[in-house]
This record gives sequence, C-alpha cells and structure tokens, in this order.
Amino acid sequence: MVPLKLAVAVFLALLVVNSVVAEDPYRFFTWNVTYGTIWPLGVPQQGILINGQFPGPDIYSVTNDNLIVNVFNSLDEPFLLSWNGIQNRRNSFEDGVYGTTCPIPPGKNMTYILQVKDQIGSFYYFPSLAFHKAAGGFGGIRILSRPRIPVPFPDPADDYTILIGDWYKKNHTALKAILDGGRKLPLPDGILINGRGPNGVTFTVEQGKTYRLRISNVGLQNTLNFRVEGHKMTLVEVEGTHTLQTTYSSLDVHVGQSYSVLITANQEAKDHYIVVSSRFTSPVLTTTGVLHYSGSNTPVSGPPPGGPTIQIDWSLNQARSIRTNLSASGPRPNPQGSYHYGMINTTRTIRLASSAGQVNGKQRYAVNSVSFVPLDTPLKLLDYFKVGGFKVGSISDSPSGGGIYQDTSVLGTDYRKFIEIIFENNEDIVQSWHLDGYSFWVVGMDGGQWTQASRNVYNLRDAVSRCTTQVYPKSWTAIYLALDNVGMWNLRTEFWARQSSQLLMLCSFTELFQKLQRFRACSKATLLEIEIVSYEKESGEPLCMNQYPSNQTAFPKIPKSQPFAALLFTLSGQFNPLHSDPMVGNIAGFSRPVLHGLCTLGFAIRVIIGRICRGDLTLIKNLSGRFLLHVYPGETLITEMWPEGLR
Ligand SMILES: *[C@@H]1O[C@H](CO)[C@@H](O)[C@H](O)[C@H]1NC(C)=O
Ligand SMILES: *[C@@H]1O[C@H](CO)[C@@H](O)[C@H](O)[C@H]1NC(C)=O
Ligand SMILES: *[C@@H]1O[C@H](CO)[C@@H](O)[C@H](O)[C@H]1NC(C)=O
Ligand SMILES: *[C@@H]1O[C@H](CO)[C@@H](O)[C@H](O)[C@H]1NC(C)=O
Ligand SMILES: *[C@@H]1O[C@H](CO)[C@@H](O)[C@H](O)[C@H]1NC(C)=O
Ligand SMILES: *[C@@H]1O[C@H](CO)[C@@H](O)[C@H](O)[C@H]1NC(C)=O
Ligand SMILES: *[C@@H]1O[C@H](CO)[C@@H](O)[C@H](O)[C@H]1NC(C)=O
Repeated sequence: MVPLKLAVAVFLALLVVNSVVAEDPYRFFTWNVTYGTIWPLGVPQQGILINGQFPGPDIYSVTNDNLIVNVFNSLDEPFLLSWNGIQNRRNSFEDGVYGTTCPIPPGKNMTYILQVKDQIGSFYYFPSLAFHKAAGGFGGIRILSRPRIPVPFPDPADDYTILIGDWYKKNHTALKAILDGGRKLPLPDGILINGRGPNGVTFTVEQGKTYRLRISNVGLQNTLNFRVEGHKMTLVEVEGTHTLQTTYSSLDVHVGQSYSVLITANQEAKDHYIVVSSRFTSPVLTTTGVLHYSGSNTPVSGPPPGGPTIQIDWSLNQARSIRTNLSASGPRPNPQGSYHYGMINTTRTIRLASSAGQVNGKQRYAVNSVSFVPLDTPLKLLDYFKVGGFKVGSISDSPSGGGIYQDTSVLGTDYRKFIEIIFENNEDIVQSWHLDGYSFWVVGMDGGQWTQASRNVYNLRDAVSRCTTQVYPKSWTAIYLALDNVGMWNLRTEFWARQSSQLLMLCSFTELFQKLQRFRACSKATLLEIEIVSYEKESGEPLCMNQYPSNQTAFPKIPKSQPFAALLFTLSGQFNPLHSDPMVGNIAGFSRPVLHGLCTLGFAIRVIIGRICRGDLTLIKNLSGRFLLHVYPGETLITEMWPEGLR
C-alpha cells in the first residue's frame, strides 16, 4: 500500500499583469547594527554603528539590481532602516517606516528585499524610529547607470559620498525625552561631514582631474550650504534626475535632499577648505573638511570662505535654476524629456499646510490640522486584513484652518491618476517634504499664498523630478505626481523633530503582499490568527487545526458539534480506509489514521480564496498542489502565502 503523501504546497496563479523578470543581479549585504562610542564633536557619546562604522557603509548598485540587506538589530530597542529615494515599486512594506514595515525587535534580524528598479542617482538610508537618526545609522546609496546607457558627463576620476548634517552632543534618548516631554529642541551643537567634526575628513584629489561629490543632507532639521574654497561646482544630478550642468560656487542642500556635483582640481596645489554652514539660523553653525591636492603639503589656513546665511531669495533663485537636462538619458536610454509631464492634465489638487502648536500643553506639529499618531499595528497589516483602526480620508484635501488634533492621517489616492500637491508653509522656517515610493516634478515655488493664478508661473517644461522638496518660509511649493506606484507611502517632513507632520498616502488597495510572516513580530495586538480546531466528540481528542490571520467577524461558521473531520470527509466519497480505520493506518506505518490530502488542500485553498482573492473565485486561474508529507488529524495547518514576482 502506498501511503498518501500529504501536507501542502499550494501554488497560486492570479490573473495579474506582466511579471517581473528576476534576472537582474543580486547584491547581498549583512549588517549588524550596534551601539558604539563616537566622538564627532569631541565629547564621547553613544552612536549607532553599522558593521562598526559611523556613518554606515555605502550601498553601490546599478539600475535594476536586487539588494538583499539582512539587518541584525543588536540595539536594545526596535529598529528600522528606511531608504530615502528608493522607490521600492509595489513593495511599500520594504520601505522601513512605522506604519508599513514591522520594526526589527532587539536581538532579531530582518531581510530587506529591495530592487532599484528603473532608478539612477544618489540617495541615502537612515534609521526611521525613535529619533535614532540623531545617533547615526545612516549611509549613502548610489545607483549607477547600466553600462550601455549614456551618462551626460565623462567618468569622474573618483566618486565620493559626502553626508552632511546638523548634530547634537546629546544622545538620541536624551533628545527624544525632550520631544516626548512636549518641548522643542535647542539649536544643534554643530555640523558633521561624514560623521566627523571640524577638519575631520579629507578628500584627496589630483591636479587637473574631475571628481563627483554626492552630497546628502542627513541631518535633523537645518538647511546647509556646501562650498569648496576657490572651486566651482557643476551640478549634474539631483535625486535621480540628470540636470542642466549649471555652475555654482555654493549650493543649498535642504534637509533630506541629495545632489551630485562635479568639481575639477584646477586650483593651486594645496589644501582647500570644504565648508558646510547652516542657513537661516542665528548663530550660523559652520564646519570644515579638507580638499587635499595629492603631493601638496600646504595645510588649510585663514578663515574659511563665507557663504549665504539668511537670504531666502538667493536660495529660491538657485532652486529655480535647477532644471532637468531634457536630452540626457535617465535610467533608460531614451531622453528624460520624452515624458511630457506638463501636457498631462491633473485630476486632483491636494493642498497640504503644515502648522505647529500646543496640544494639551505639549508642542505638536500637523498637516492640515492633523497631527499624526502612529498605531501599534502597522497600517499596512490593518489595511490588508480590512480590520479598521484607521480611516482612509482622515485628512482633508485642503487646510481647514482649525486647531490641531491627533489622528492617524491616511490620504486615499487612485492608481494611475496624475495629481497636483501644493505644500503651503505659513510658518517662518524652511520646511522640507519627502514622499517615499515616488519621484515628483517640482513645478513651482514662490512666496505668499498659493492661488489658482499661481499655476501661471509653473515650469511645465524642464522642472526637476526628485523625492524631497523644500518650502520656503511663508511660501508654497507645487509638485506634480504620477500615481504609478501602488502601496502605502509615507509623506513626511524631513525636519525630524516634527515627525508628527506626516501622513500616509495610500495608492489603491491592490498591492500584493509578500511574506506576511515578516509581520508576526509586531502583530501581537492584531494577528488575529483564527484557529479552527476540530475535536472528536466523545474523546475530546483534537483532530485537525487550521490557523490563519483574520479578524473576529470573518470567523467562519462551523457547526457546533464538529464531527470527526476525516470520517466526515470519507462520507463525501473518499473511501480509503487509511483515513478512518486505525488498523489500516497502522499497517501503512502511521500511528493513527491520516488526514485526507484533499481535506488539507481544501483548508489551504479556502484561506487563499478568502485572503488573497477576497472571496472572488473568478481571480483563480489554476490551482495545483503537491503532497509531500502526511498530516495527522489534530496537527496544525499553517497556510503561508506570498507572491512570486507579480504572480
Ligand atoms: C553584532 O555585534 C555585536 C557586538 O560586536 C556582537 O556581539 C554580535 O554577535 C554581532 N551580531 C552578529 C549577528 O554579527
Ligand atoms: C536572519 O539571518 C539568518 C542568517 O543570516 C537568515 O538565514 C535569516 O533568513 C534571517 N531572517 C530574516 C527574517 O531575515
Ligand atoms: C544619554 O544621555 C542621558 C542624559 O545625558 C544619560 O543619562 C544617558 O546615560 C545617556 N545614555 C547613554 C547610553 O549614553
Ligand atoms: C545635456 O545632456 C547632453 C547629453 O545628452 C549633453 O551633451 C549636454 O551638454 C547637456 N546640457 C547641459 C546644458 O547640461
Ligand atoms: C486637458 O484639458 C484640456 C482642457 O480641458 C483639453 O483640451 C485637453 O484635451 C486635455 N488633455 C488631455 C491630454 O487630456
Ligand atoms: C473585520 O473585517 C470586516 C470586513 O471583512 C469589517 O467589516 C469589520 O469591521 C472588521 N472587524 C473589526 C473588529 O475590525
Ligand atoms: C495548472 O498548472 C499546472 C502546474 O503549473 C499545470 O500542470 C496544469 O496543466 C495547469 N492546468 C490548467 C488547466 O491550466
């Protein structure tokens, strides 16, 4: 007698669009995130290191690479990394922010599965929870063009990541305690370049050669001005867009933004200051690094060159001069200008106004009066199982002018629509807005209140497409956004103390979910796992159990006195005594009767139809299974589901 091989592996074919070809190269990273002592401003403090480094290692990649980053959290707190500017197409649960990704518990690891699909450019990663960003844990990400795609400038002699940011001597727990106490943070203590204080970093160049600098502002709030003594910089790329190659003697980098410039070592062969200073602050914070001409031994001397300080018009004019080079290639060989964003009609206008105020005596920040409150359970999970907990549309499309209140703001948007978003800033500080999962066209910015007439000054031809934009004090910034990436995406201020100034933008409901089990770690309040246990009536012995995540109202109706599952199934026409006669079971080598394969399969299919297809049978094209091992009645059946590519 051939024992039936049971237990299930079910493959599911949904009728879904074009599938992803998985032939793009893979790059593997294993990162250990630890605390360590760092002295960036001369005093020892607790920093967050990745593989012992501060800042963390750079990620090098080429368009379409798959990046598999296994992150071990050796901190004593939950931890997440987010990938500023990486679009994670249809994978918002890899985004690494509260709400869409389950935090990595202390002592555990999680593997991010990213693909830098159709992207080029300079970006960075950073820790998104608990003010960890104030302690480090950030690093550069660069996505190079594929070999045969033309890049609109010659290969530089070298390519440096330059992470600049404001910095506090207080550790992240102390800073977080200030914020949790409802107070504002003081002015930062200094500015770091690649995690080092004054003259702590040196970049070596050779006379006559040209270098690429990838500058990202990974700080907590301040706009920084970047300049190199005696040298001009040619801007070539902004967050994945090749720009018109304009020359600047200094560049404003707002918090969260990334720029690539070329710099040619064509000055006197000595050391020159690299200067980074804060904008719009009093006092002005300044730090320096060194551009060292190889072979020279004349150190930097004298005061570092000054830069703009509080002038807003200077910055606004510079921002407007940053344009897309329409004839240059982006991630694909066709020119960046072949997408005529200015000729597409927008179908919706969303006006988002930021504000600050006191709620119950505590400092809070809001968008359209809503101050974001995170939920214990990732919204992504709540959305997936449709268990409520938040409301789509809990934030309005325009400022209400009312007082600040707290809610979990989720904005619903429709896949494939083309929309306009206006960021309105009535405050007297510079704001910086970032949208995960997308790149958008910054079509306009100006002082004053936005009105319909403001559209007349939009740049509908060669605005730059990027993921982070500044909004000047008492000003507005308008963006156009093609909603081409399904998922739940974080739209946030990059001013880190104002994190409650954020919302989640839900683009349609149809994102496929990968590997639900990665949410187990943070789902204690929700998962909501249904157990159906069938017992034998007389002996009370459990016969079979099925578990799947759900909410209570979806609990299937089961007759009160569940009969012997295998016996019942036998009555439906499967008369093999293996499933009902203990003796036959013994002869076949089993300690007791085994469950029917089809019964097991049935449970699995039932879960799949219920969970992935939401009960819609027409979505199933073909189901097949393979029975590998036997299942005894009473054993737990766990159905795990994940899409493969887009299947
Ligand atoms: C991470 O680093 C810590 C401290 O060096 C070490 O104790 C731990 O074993 C490391 N974990 C992994 C997974 O490498
Ligand atoms: C944790 O790391 C181990 C060893 O590298 C790996 O096999 C495992 O898949 C990782 N777990 C997760 C959840 O990524
Ligand atoms: C963080 O700073 C606070 C306040 O200065 C201090 O009490 C605490 O020990 C520090 N924590 C660490 C781990 O350095
Ligand atoms: C635009 O890119 C092209 C390459 O396609 C390059 O030849 C040209 O110099 C660039 N123009 C400017 C103004 O940067
Ligand atoms: C955009 O709207 C204008 C005016 O309503 C209309 O004439 C034009 O055809 C529309 N363009 C597209 C591409 O739909
Ligand atoms: C459970 O899900 C259903 C829809 O499937 C929903 O109507 C119901 O409100 C949810 N129950 C709870 C407790 O959230
Ligand atoms: C269903 O899929 C299986 C496995 O891929 C295949 O062998 C079978 O022919 C398919 N059946 C139909 C009706 O498409």
